[in-house]
Amino acid sequence: MINEPARICPWQHAWFLDNCVRRTIHNPDRIIGRYIEKGQTVLDLGCGPGMFSLAMAKMVGEDGKVISVDIQEEMLQILRKQSENAGFQSRIYLHKSRSDGIGIRDSVDFALAFYMVHEVPDKTGFLKEVAAHIKPLGMILIVEPKWHVSEPSFEETVDVAKHSGLRLISRPKILFSRAVLLQKNSG
Ligand SMILES: C[S@@+](CC[C@H](N)C(=O)[O-])C[C@H]1O[C@@H](n2cnc3c(N)ncnc32)[C@H](O)[C@@H]1O
Repeated sequence: MINEPARICPWQHAWFLDNCVRRTIHNPDRIIGRYIEKGQTVLDLGCGPGMFSLAMAKMVGEDGKVISVDIQEEMLQILRKQSENAGFQSRIYLHKSRSDGIGIRDSVDFALAFYMVHEVPDKTGFLKEVAAHIKPLGMILIVEPKWHVSEPSFEETVDVAKHSGLRLISRPKILFSRAVLLQKNSG
């Protein structure tokens, strides 16, 4: 079901999302490094404590911008500390999602939705809003955990994305995960 009730990963589990084991299993450079260039604006949806946001900040460089979005203020505060420690305050923009949508203004070159779409109750509305913020020919990588998201359920999400102006490019192999890379149509 595309609009099933969802359970949000509590912020108290942030340690589980950012530690040396996870950084090895889900190495950001290996997973997203090839999609991001210096100077770009990128979006980390459901950023959690920010393992991917911090890596994205390095990838976009000092002229780039990372918009890190989460519905839990506590996750954003964990990322804020890490971002300050790394000296990335001027590149990482923290944004708390509204209850009725994401609520950002920027258009982005690349968006990441890692282990978060299954937590969104209205996947159709969410993916439509995300797609509207991706630049023509920009890309989005959606990754879901195999243990929470069945193959049919993931394929429903892929179908919704395809109906939001995104076309399937590839299905990258990521450990313990189902993944799809989509590109925004040119116009
Ligand atoms: C399992 S965590 C994954 C965190 C991060 N993407 C990672 O892979 O390390 C899912 C995150 O998505 C956030 N989230 C859930 N629903 C959301 C929504 N509608 N908008 C923004 N963030 C959301 C949760 O608060 C949580 O921090």
